[in-house]
Amino acid sequence: MSQSDDVHFYDPAKGHGLSHDPFKAIVAPRVIGWISSRDAQGRANLAPYSFFGAFATFPPIIGFCSEGYKDSLSNIEATREFVWNLTSKTLVEQMNQSSAPVPHEVDEFELAGLTKAPGVNVSVPHVAESPASLECKLLQVVRMHDLDGKPMNNWLTLGQVVGVHIRREFLNDDGLFDTARAHPVMRAGYLGDYAEIGPMFDLRRPKA
Ligand SMILES: Cc1cc2nc3c(=O)[nH]c(=O)nc-3n(C[C@H](O)[C@H](O)[C@H](O)COP(=O)(O)O)c2cc1C
Repeated sequence: MSQSDDVHFYDPAKGHGLSHDPFKAIVAPRVIGWISSRDAQGRANLAPYSFFGAFATFPPIIGFCSEGYKDSLSNIEATREFVWNLTSKTLVEQMNQSSAPVPHEVDEFELAGLTKAPGVNVSVPHVAESPASLECKLLQVVRMHDLDGKPMNNWLTLGQVVGVHIRREFLNDDGLFDTARAHPVMRAGYLGDYAEIGPMFDLRRPKA
């Protein structure tokens, strides 16, 4: 570990030297990938993944990362479909309940008291109460490898969006999705920390 007066530097392989690992507090806030899926027998599953992101505009592509081979991933490999659901502030308790380490057979929609809305282009249900949901077909599951080439127990799942559900109450008269009103909740900081979006502002890219 090397330090200067102004900067704490560390190599994660050698330890952070702080009271808690700051990685997830630095890469924050993170949009929550609230992922619904179903297994080959049709049983529904729902779980949050904050290692989540959007990676392409057209076709739209999103992905999330499973630390360990979890039910969502095994379902998605079996059916090649999943749905992302926006976690709004009003749904944060249900989102948290859906992260419970319950047996595969347990349907987290029922556990969390959420309504299943049927898919259009996928057979996976989405969260009816969510302001927006993205139906996806599986593109790739990438098992990550570290610098030593060692396979990790971490899996990146990428999907192409094939259907978008937006609750009309979150669409303004000008046809714009009202992100602030959807009130997304994000993962931030340490254990149990979440963030909301603050005031939005306008900033345009420089012209060529
Ligand atoms: C806000 C939040 C974010 C989470 N992010 C992740 C994540 O990025 N990757 C992961 O493997 N688990 C994550 N978890 C834990 C999973 O949700 C949890 O292991 C869940 O039981 C997995 O469900 P499944 O086996 O039905 O897929 C997160 C939990 C919470 C509450």
